[in-house]
Amino acid sequence: MLIEVILGLFIVLFYFLVIKPLVPMIKLKLQFGNDCLMKYHFFGGELWQQLKEMKISKDLIKRPRDLYINHPYKIFVSNFLWKIKISVADPEYYKVMLHNHQYYSKVNNINHDNLIQKGLVFSMGEKWKSQRTVLSESFEYDQLKSRLPMINEVCLEKINQICGDNVLEFLELITGQVVIRSFFGNSAEGIKINKKQIQIEIADLLNDMGELRLKSKYFFIKRFFLGTKGWKFFPTKIEKELLQRVYEVRLTIEKLIQKRIVEIEIKMDENENDVKQRDPDFLDVLIKEYLKQKQKGVQKITIDDILQQFITLFFAGTDTTAVLSYHCLYFLALYPEIQQEIREEVMTVCKNEMVLDDKIKKLHKLTAFINEVLRVKNPALRLLLRNCDQTHQVKDLTIKKGWNVIVDYQFQCFLSKHFSNPENFDYKRWLEAEPIKENHQFVYLPFSAGPRNCIGQHMAQMEAKIILSQILRQFQININPNVDPRWTARFLYQLQPGNCVQLQKL
Ligand code: HEM
Repeated sequence: MLIEVILGLFIVLFYFLVIKPLVPMIKLKLQFGNDCLMKYHFFGGELWQQLKEMKISKDLIKRPRDLYINHPYKIFVSNFLWKIKISVADPEYYKVMLHNHQYYSKVNNINHDNLIQKGLVFSMGEKWKSQRTVLSESFEYDQLKSRLPMINEVCLEKINQICGDNVLEFLELITGQVVIRSFFGNSAEGIKINKKQIQIEIADLLNDMGELRLKSKYFFIKRFFLGTKGWKFFPTKIEKELLQRVYEVRLTIEKLIQKRIVEIEIKMDENENDVKQRDPDFLDVLIKEYLKQKQKGVQKITIDDILQQFITLFFAGTDTTAVLSYHCLYFLALYPEIQQEIREEVMTVCKNEMVLDDKIKKLHKLTAFINEVLRVKNPALRLLLRNCDQTHQVKDLTIKKGWNVIVDYQFQCFLSKHFSNPENFDYKRWLEAEPIKENHQFVYLPFSAGPRNCIGQHMAQMEAKIILSQILRQFQININPNVDPRWTARFLYQLQPGNCVQLQKL
């Protein structure tokens, strides 16, 4: 009897760990030949290997990048247990995928349903479409222009208070504050959660939630088998503390939203024009939509949606822009002659304190420089992991329901067929008429493409330009000789530690 049980168990394990993943992998290999790389993992998966590499490697993408340059493949297929993961690196294929986004749901790496799941990054179908429509206007050029004085103010305010040597943290304070003011205006000023400034607690919470999966194998396995229900299954002390923090953050934000609803309702009763006169922040826009739907009796957008939209924009807009600015500072420090050229441009164009729209347009070198940093060190190295929800065809590739899908768009930036001397950091290539050779519209996509591209891309670029101009005007940027820089990954692909550069007052 025991032998039969062991044999039965062995057959089940053999099926799930070997046959189930290997059969489709081999089929793909046979179909695509050299255009398909295949790596089978009996247990574990790429993730464990990446975690190991994160600890020792100086640059996390060096190995995959070199592999791709030496052997440009269309797809890379691997597995985690029985789950297939397919990375698509060929622009002809991911172009189709980016347009047909409805087949994929994004895997929420915060691992919780009540923080960002309902916001613009993770929502799907009609819900996503209506959110994108409501928010689009707030990210259009004219609306952005009206926020530029605020971005300058935040920058100057933080620069005046700068203390300590963690430049990345300082940048995150600026970008976090910009998202909060864009969303709440001044109404979230001075608010604290768990004795920390609101933006610091939200940023810490999102990082702690995201890192839990990587730090705790127990949580990782629960997440794999139970999804977000894993939180309810024998939570550890750390998990309980995180849930309490989620509760506190949600409570504070909900109070801010409710307060604004009352204010808007009162103003609407008194005089409708009054509400229209002020430059609307994101919260005004969302609440007006909420109240409009309430009046019509078709409540699609809820308070919880608004709350999660705020955390979503914070999540999508804070670290991304801070890390981009940090990478820029690093390259400015690494190449002092470039720093000097760009500082001269900034000093010539921006004579007074505010860096506004008319000046930003004239910062050609700075724009080219940021483009180059995004080419070589884009914090959004690849798109978020997706789950295929419906079997479908991408050209001659069949992607099956349940597979994990990755769009690896950054590798094209390292190919000499698209960029001359791609290994050189050369911002001047972006001042040429045609910086990209054999231009395929899907070669250089720092903000993705298609209907689900980055809604905040113009805001991010303007913000980075303001931050860099303000810093260049006041500081010499130097490499910190006492630290060992590493290009690693948290949520984003990023330079660590946060004090790789030093700011020295001019
Ligand atoms: C350097 C800065 C930034 C980079 C590199 C970046 C990059 C990206 C990328 C690659 C995507 C597509 C993600 C995917 O489909 O998996 C994306 C989506 C998104 N980004 Fe950004 N982003 C940046 C800044 C911002 C900012 C400042 C905001 C807003 C405040 C923002 C809001 C969003 C949102 C809401 C989405 C989801 C859009 C949708 O699905 O419809 N991003 N971003």
